[in-house]
Amino acid sequence: MSVGAADAQGAMDIQQAMFSRLDRYQPIGALPRDFYTSATDYRLELEKIWYRDWLFVGHDCEITHVGDYFTVQIGEYPLLIVRDRGGEVRALHNTCRHRGSRICSAHRGRLGQLVCPYHQWTYDLSGDLIEARGKGADFQRNQHGLKPAHCKQVGGYIFVCLSDAAPDFDAFAKLAGPYLLPHHLRDAKVAFQSTIIEHANWKLVWENNRECYHCAANHPELCRSYPSTPTVVSIGAAANSPRIAEHWQHWESKGLPSRFQLSPNGQSRLVRMPLLDTAVSFTMDGTAAVQRPLSESVTESNVGSLLMFHYPSTWNHVMGDHATTFRVLPLSPTETQLTTKWLVHKDATEGVDYDVERLTEVWRATNEEDRRVCQENQRGVNSPSYDPAPYSTIQEAGTRQFISWYRRHFMARLREGSVPGAA
Ligand code: FES
Ligand SMILES: [Fe+2]
Repeated sequence: MSVGAADAQGAMDIQQAMFSRLDRYQPIGALPRDFYTSATDYRLELEKIWYRDWLFVGHDCEITHVGDYFTVQIGEYPLLIVRDRGGEVRALHNTCRHRGSRICSAHRGRLGQLVCPYHQWTYDLSGDLIEARGKGADFQRNQHGLKPAHCKQVGGYIFVCLSDAAPDFDAFAKLAGPYLLPHHLRDAKVAFQSTIIEHANWKLVWENNRECYHCAANHPELCRSYPSTPTVVSIGAAANSPRIAEHWQHWESKGLPSRFQLSPNGQSRLVRMPLLDTAVSFTMDGTAAVQRPLSESVTESNVGSLLMFHYPSTWNHVMGDHATTFRVLPLSPTETQLTTKWLVHKDATEGVDYDVERLTEVWRATNEEDRRVCQENQRGVNSPSYDPAPYSTIQEAGTRQFISWYRRHFMARLREGSVPGAA
């Protein structure tokens, strides 16, 4: 067998082994230890999930002008998200077609052209190569533009997909659009953002996010405005709560889609939930953090929180006065990057309409608390004696839904059989 054939066989063996492990695993409790620790498993997740799915990267309102860009690293892929001269948002691979240098190293900025810092090859904002110093007349510039990645937008959210064959996006856009659009997030602004690294596997971060079993003991700030009862996070259980049913009916009668919607594949969910008692926002006293409503179309403050997740990269809360959006990206088997953004009306003035400290204090504290519990979770999972019990069917239904999606989704991708990049 040639070295190449042996490598391909080795890759298939790893995939088959993973398929068997997922097949054997029953999603009634947390995954076996290797899923949270193994570099081989992590590599396969990158190839089969992170490099194949639509991922939330940022917001339209972060790049409103021609030439505005931000960068993002997804696994091994550096990407550049830029608004081109035609006003379109593009995702380009941030690797020069000359010898591969990263072109933009800053997190964000505004440029007229994309000039590689190494030998100054110059690309326009659509990624076309327009100048390659010293290249002969026979050099074909049009063959050496920056490679594009798939890029789509819905309701102010920019998603990218690294796969050549991107999965369908339209079904998600159709589901999420009506919920998001009234909040005008395309015209908002980012009042504050934070990025933290959690020393925990990305699935532990999600498992933690999808339950509030831990909230009462760990989130004193969040629990002032967010109900920790399982009805809010459980699939379907919310409909049994008269308060929630009334909330949905009220806001739907006013033209705001609110009812619980789970995509058929379990990858995304939207629902509008009331906050605790009279709270209208994630603040310490439950009152609005921003005096100016986020959207001119939703001016009543007690609209609650629109919860949206789209696995594996984002969960969100959109309220009457502001939105908090979360981007999850894996860095290694035991490290996850979490970026949180606080969006407010674009004309809201800091110091007049809102105070950044007050706007952000609940989720900054909550993120830190979640980081601590996830890191301790990882440390315990690292133990050879880790042996998880079944999930609570009441308190951890959301976590179970996530892990069931992961298992099904991963198995479906493994069944497709091909090794990305091998073609
Ligand atoms: S690597 Fe970009 S110009 Fe040389
Ligand atoms: Fe939490």
